[in-house]
Amino acid sequence: MEAFHGFFYINGEFRDKYVVVENGKIKEVRDELSGMNVKNIPGYILPGGVDMHVHFRDPGETHKEDFGTGSLSAVHGGTTTVCDMPNNRTPITDRDAFNSKLASIRRSYADFGLYQAASEVSIPEAIGQKIFLGKSTGGLLTDLENSEWQNKVKVVHAELQECIDRNKRENENLVSHDMSRPLECELEAIELIFKYKLSDVHVAHLTSVRSLEFAKSLGFKTELTPHHLLLNNSIGIGSFGKVNPPLRKKSVQEEMLANVNSQALDVIASDHAPHTIQEKEVFKDSPSGLPGAETRVPLVLALHKKGLISVQKAVSTLMQKPAEICKMNKGYIAAGYDADFISMDLKNTTEIRGDELHSKCGWTPFEKFEGVFPDLVYLRGELILQEGEIVASPSGVFLNAKEQ
Ligand code: DOR
Ligand code: ZN
Repeated sequence: MEAFHGFFYINGEFRDKYVVVENGKIKEVRDELSGMNVKNIPGYILPGGVDMHVHFRDPGETHKEDFGTGSLSAVHGGTTTVCDMPNNRTPITDRDAFNSKLASIRRSYADFGLYQAASEVSIPEAIGQKIFLGKSTGGLLTDLENSEWQNKVKVVHAELQECIDRNKRENENLVSHDMSRPLECELEAIELIFKYKLSDVHVAHLTSVRSLEFAKSLGFKTELTPHHLLLNNSIGIGSFGKVNPPLRKKSVQEEMLANVNSQALDVIASDHAPHTIQEKEVFKDSPSGLPGAETRVPLVLALHKKGLISVQKAVSTLMQKPAEICKMNKGYIAAGYDADFISMDLKNTTEIRGDELHSKCGWTPFEKFEGVFPDLVYLRGELILQEGEIVASPSGVFLNAKEQ
């Protein structure tokens, strides 16, 4: 048993508390404590970040990223849990693919869940099911009629293939990329998935207030990414901004940012989708996808510093809601939850530099943006990062949905 003392985020505010931890789990939260060795944690202490949408490329495309580098990157940015998507080179549509993916993961600094692609087989160990309504990187397309549905989160890539086909055009810059997969494809996809009356639908990477509110009005959980919140198709980063769904025009992005505290928004996920600099260079050949696992929490905390998002909304979108949606014992500093903590000076921003981040891909679309990075990161009670340095060997574990 061990105890920590500091300024913990509990029930919507920072409180001076003692947190007792046993076997990596929070045993109790107390106002006072005596007779035990106590470790003081400086700064403001938040629950560890939960990123429910990453693509770590392991196995099959480890020249872009692997679980070791992807999770290293996540932890440096205050994320201690990730859920990895199934659009691997061999898509995760059956048990063999799922098992060999799990076996290929040699090390992880963060705890992790793995999605399966929705298919005619159910994999109970998967954290959730991914539905692709339109093709993106990896080319998966879900057969909604013949998929077997489980009682767990269904993350929807909401761009309708029919609409993408209808809008096909020469793809040479961010504006034409937007036109080739316009907002209407997102709205049509949301409308279609509603007809299937599935439970636990979570619509990933929404790009506008309109689609966000539409998805929420139909009873879905909603997600947006830092790139749709902070970047747009006129910022001049060319192919390094090519992503599906596309970055929209400035006014649409600014409206999103102005509505980031909206009740219609549940989750901010990175959609970390690394590709190498070389692969990204030529627009028409560039695979879609942007890295973001390391910058997700820091960018949102920097928005908080600027007064653009409340601390309650930051914590609920980055930590609490994703943990609840994925049914994980994480995201809260309360008895029974995993002792995952990050601490930082909330006023201390750092300029983001692609070549200082830890993803294998070596670049970021958020070059020179301000971020608030954690000084200390604890995973299940163990200190794993201190002043920007990893101080423990990789100890992330697989979160088996069957056992949660
Ligand atoms: O831009 C994207 N990249 N969108 C996706 O849906 C997949 C992702 C990737 O895996 O690269
Ligand atoms: Zn994705």
